[in-house]
Amino acid sequence: MTGRFITIEGGEGAGKSTAQTFLAEKLTAQGISVLQTREPGGTPLAEAIRHNLLSVDEEAPVEMTELLLVFAARAQHLTKVIEPALNQGQWVLCDRFTDATYAYQGAGRGLSAELIGKLESLVQGGRVPDTVILLDMPPEIGMARARARGALDRFEQEEQAFFERVRQGYLDRAARFPDRYIVVDAAQHLGGVQKSLEAVMKRWFTDA
Ligand SMILES: Nc1ncnc2c1ncn2[C@@H]1O[C@H](COP(=O)(O)OP(=O)(O)OP(=O)(O)O)[C@@H](O)[C@H]1O
Ligand SMILES: [Mg+2]
Repeated sequence: MTGRFITIEGGEGAGKSTAQTFLAEKLTAQGISVLQTREPGGTPLAEAIRHNLLSVDEEAPVEMTELLLVFAARAQHLTKVIEPALNQGQWVLCDRFTDATYAYQGAGRGLSAELIGKLESLVQGGRVPDTVILLDMPPEIGMARARARGALDRFEQEEQAFFERVRQGYLDRAARFPDRYIVVDAAQHLGGVQKSLEAVMKRWFTDA
């Protein structure tokens, strides 16, 4: 039996890492073998690409380079980590995946969804997440959290309008793929977010 592929999406500081830890603990308690990973990254080579993508000290990639690097990292991550885990029956929890590419490089930077779709097919074949959990909130709340944490990476240094486009890009994807997407109000207090996540998990076990 193959595992379930779950991705966690949202803007900076939306609570992705917090949600991932919560889901992993709950799933593990149910006896499910969980693999936690993230994008860009998840393998040593893909993490090196991540470092280059997020760095503010090195040459900034042009938009096309950024897109290709994201998918280069993804090819490595999928082949080396995600596919083997799913094939062994593990559930994969991934902090950001291709929906982030549509939101950031597509809606944010202005690259076409058609172009991203071509690379998606090339790199992923038919592999898409079974569930995308979108933690949605006004970007200024998440940025305040990110700022409180310290130095900002290359994406976090973007202007407000960029984050508004990213948010809308995610919401447009959610509207287009309602069966795959679960939109959670991430501006609510942590207990509220966790309650929403528990409702999502309940559905997985009753559907199974
Ligand atoms: N619902 C919530 N209400 C208030 N604070 C929260 C909530 N969820 C998470 N936080 C806090 O906000 C901060 C950012 O959360 P977290 O690191 O999970 O976000 P993230 O989406 O993973 O951020 P990044 O984009 O930087 O990876 C953390 O300090 C976390 O404890
Ligand atoms: Mg995080």
